[in-house]
Amino acid sequence: MDGEMNVIFVTAIFLLPSTAGAFSAKWDHFTFTQEWPQTACLMGKAEHKKCNIPNYINSFIIHGLWPSSGKTEGPKNCSSVHFDMNKIKNLTNELQHAWPNIYSNTAPNDFWKHEWNTHGTCALSLNTTGTEYLFFRKTLDLMKIYNASRFLSKMNITPNDTTPYVTKTIESVLQKKLGVVPNLQCYRYKLGKRQTYLLAEIRICMDKQFKLIECLNDDSTLYWSRRSQTQSCSRGKIYFPEIKRS
Ligand SMILES: *[C@@H]1O[C@H](CO)[C@@H](O)[C@H](O)[C@H]1NC(C)=O
Ligand SMILES: *[C@@H]1O[C@H](CO)[C@@H](O)[C@H](O)[C@H]1NC(C)=O
Ligand SMILES: *[C@@H]1O[C@H](CO)[C@@H](O)[C@H](O)[C@H]1NC(C)=O
Ligand SMILES: *[C@@H]1O[C@H](CO)[C@@H](O)[C@H](O)[C@H]1NC(C)=O
Ligand SMILES: *[C@@H]1O[C@H](CO)[C@@H](O)[C@H](O)[C@H]1NC(C)=O
Repeated sequence: MDGEMNVIFVTAIFLLPSTAGAFSAKWDHFTFTQEWPQTACLMGKAEHKKCNIPNYINSFIIHGLWPSSGKTEGPKNCSSVHFDMNKIKNLTNELQHAWPNIYSNTAPNDFWKHEWNTHGTCALSLNTTGTEYLFFRKTLDLMKIYNASRFLSKMNITPNDTTPYVTKTIESVLQKKLGVVPNLQCYRYKLGKRQTYLLAEIRICMDKQFKLIECLNDDSTLYWSRRSQTQSCSRGKIYFPEIKRS
C-alpha cells in the first residue's frame, strides 16, 4: 500500500515538469544577441545556400534573447508552448525590420519560431517575458535601446572590406555606451589563402531585471545556433564586412 502511494506520488512529481516545473529551468541571466547580417549570410551558406538581406537592412539585426546560465549556454526547449504567429501579428512590421529571416530557403517566420522554441520558452518564468507576445516585445525594445549599429556608426566604425578593426577598439566604443564590455563573436573565414575573422555577433549580458552585466566569456562553452559556429573574436584585427545583396 505504502509502495503504491509512493509510485503515485513520484509519478505526479515527474509529470509536473511538462507544465509548471519546466518554467523554472535553471538560468541566471539573459544574453541579448545582435548579428551582423553579412557574416550571418556567409555562415549560413552551406546550410541555406541562398541569403537575402532585405534592401532596408543596413545594420545589426536581432539574433535572439537567450536565457543563459553562468558560462554555459543555459537551458533550451524548456516547454512545449507552441509558437503562434497570431500572438505577435501586431509586431510583424517591427520584427521584419529588426529581426528579419535572411535565409530565403526557409519560411519567413522560421527564425522567430526557432528562437521562441529554443530560447523564448525558457523565459516564460519571468513576468516581463511571460508570454510569447511579451518575449518578442521585450526583445524588440532591447534592440531600440542597445542598437549596436547606432553606437558604432556614431564613432565611425562602419563596415569596411579592406581595412580591419582592432577588436579592442570596437569593444571600447561599446563599453563607453553600455558601461559593460559586450562579448564580440567572430566567424573564421578564409579570404583567399588568408585566415581572417569576421565580426559576427555582439552579445550583451543582462540580469533578470535587464540590468547590464559583464558577460562571462568562455570559449569552451560555445553557443551553437541553427547556423554555424562562432567564437569570441581574437584579440587582434577583425573585419566588419560590407553588406552585399544578391
Ligand atoms: C530543441 O528542439 C529543436 C527542434 O525541435 C531540436 O532540433 C534541438 O535539438 C533541441 N535542442 C535541445 C538542446 O534539446
Ligand atoms: C498586440 O497583440 C498583443 C497580443 O495579442 C496584445 O496583448 C497587445 O495589446 C497588442 N498591442 C497593440 C498595440 O495592439
Ligand atoms: C539601428 O540603428 C541604425 C543606425 O542608426 C538604424 O539604421 C536601424 O534602423 C536601427 N535598427 C533598429 C532595429 O532600430
Ligand atoms: C509577477 O507579477 C505579479 C502580479 O503583478 C506579482 O504578484 C509577482 O510578484 C510578480 N513576480 C515576480 C517574480 O516579479
Ligand atoms: C575603408 O577604410 C579605408 C581606410 O580608412 C578608407 O580609405 C575607405 O574609404 C574605407 N572604405 C569604406 C567602404 O568605408
